[in-house]
Amino acid sequence: MAAGIDDIAIYIPRLYLDASDFASARGLDPVKLEKGLGVSQMAMVDADQDPACLAANACLKIMQRNNLSPSDIGRLYVSTESSFDESKAMNSYVVGMLEQVYGPGTFEHCGGVETKFACVSGSYALYDNTNWIRAGESEDQYAMVVVSDIAKYDLESGGEMTQGAGAVVMLLSDEPRLLSFDPRVTSTSIKDEYDFYRPFGKETPIVHGEYSNMLYMMQVKKALETYKKKVRTAGLIDVGPEGTILDHMDYINMHLPYSKMGKKALAYLVRHEWRHLPRWREVLRDIGMEEPVPKDPRGTIESVLADRDFMQKDKEFTRRFTDTAQYQEVYESKLASSLVASRMIGNLYTASLYLGFRSCLEFEHKKGVDLEGRRIGFGSYGSGSSAMVFSGVVQRGYEEIVKKMDLESEIGSRRRLTWDEYVQLHENQLRPEESLADGRGEFVLVGINTDKESSGERHYRYNG
Ligand code: HMG
Repeated sequence: MAAGIDDIAIYIPRLYLDASDFASARGLDPVKLEKGLGVSQMAMVDADQDPACLAANACLKIMQRNNLSPSDIGRLYVSTESSFDESKAMNSYVVGMLEQVYGPGTFEHCGGVETKFACVSGSYALYDNTNWIRAGESEDQYAMVVVSDIAKYDLESGGEMTQGAGAVVMLLSDEPRLLSFDPRVTSTSIKDEYDFYRPFGKETPIVHGEYSNMLYMMQVKKALETYKKKVRTAGLIDVGPEGTILDHMDYINMHLPYSKMGKKALAYLVRHEWRHLPRWREVLRDIGMEEPVPKDPRGTIESVLADRDFMQKDKEFTRRFTDTAQYQEVYESKLASSLVASRMIGNLYTASLYLGFRSCLEFEHKKGVDLEGRRIGFGSYGSGSSAMVFSGVVQRGYEEIVKKMDLESEIGSRRRLTWDEYVQLHENQLRPEESLADGRGEFVLVGINTDKESSGERHYRYNG
């Protein structure tokens, strides 16, 4: 049975920090952000927004666009790592907001949980809900999976230049117009790690940036190895002796903590896949140097990172590799379109991969490509850490949705923050009623109780 993504919508908050303003305030070369990280703007939440508002705004948009009523929705899953309650799931806040529009109790029949595993949990939620449909449990209802996050790092930390915020919602059905997931090939890897984590009570994560970059690539590579085996067992694709699985993915969407990470991670996977193929000889000739090997090839990530000679040579090798015509062809044809939105919005944690998927569809369609039947591979990563590799095929009905996509108008008009405003918002110095932009037509946070009996209770309003 087909099961997959029928429609996708995004909600991006109405404020942003421009990368050039960030660079000048922090005394950085703006080219580092623009080219080194691929960050042009970072979306920021207003004083009257939290991750539940972002999620509810995205859900309302997709329901209204498809003329859906709550009875059409059988499951509502929320995936986030920006949770503000240890017990009450973000789903209930989202349902509470939606019921302000659709009426009290209208979602009562609907099931769902909040899922957490850093940035990868949305992919697990999609997988579980796809299988709910495949199991024949959906009774013609949709599952609605919303991924919503505020990527916020400490002021003056290394991660501060990779912030962002927003939500992506996907409707899943057994007759998906956009993408049907390939069955029996979804693959995972998991390992107890401390590359990035946010202990209880802390608003911002503790991050080991360079370590996290390397771990991301290694974990996705591991999941890809399993994916290759499953593809063989399922008889989905015959790769052939001189081919790689990546040749059979028309597009590759990667988790994007910043857009340049997509390019780095794809280069890592392509190197790994091409190394043993005849084509690698020509690539090495063009690169003009041997592929470097760490002093201790079986060492830990720490020992590889500490091998500065290797790291320097490897950086140079990667730079030359990504400049080769062979890699450029893969990059331009399979990845580049998925990076456009990330540059304008920043890291959305759980939502980053799916913002990239939406970006891929829109900008490939704008190039005039017929997407029907194209296979999209996904490389999902969450710190802590787990990766997931899976794939799907674009369906016949895609054009009805994709032809209407327009990122700029979907983001809407945004207000560029001054540096002082950014710092005030970052340090939570503004109350909801002091919000900087107009939240008309949106759910907004009105207040959070502080009294002993109801401390932490949140109140929202629909500004219809
Ligand atoms: P950094 O120390 O500033 O990095 O931190 P850098 O000095 O290596 O510079 C980054 C790139 O800019 C390099 O290019 C430099 O060469 C280049 P690369 O070697 O990567 O190709 N550069 C310049 N280019 C042009 N002109 C210049 C210039 N200067 C430097 N003047 C880092 C970067 C991403 C580590 C930091 O921002 C950070 O810690 N971010 C947060 C953690 C993160 O995003 N990690 C990504 C992997 S883990 C993940 O994705 C999971 C996550 O989403 C969380 C979750 O799962 O929940 C984060």
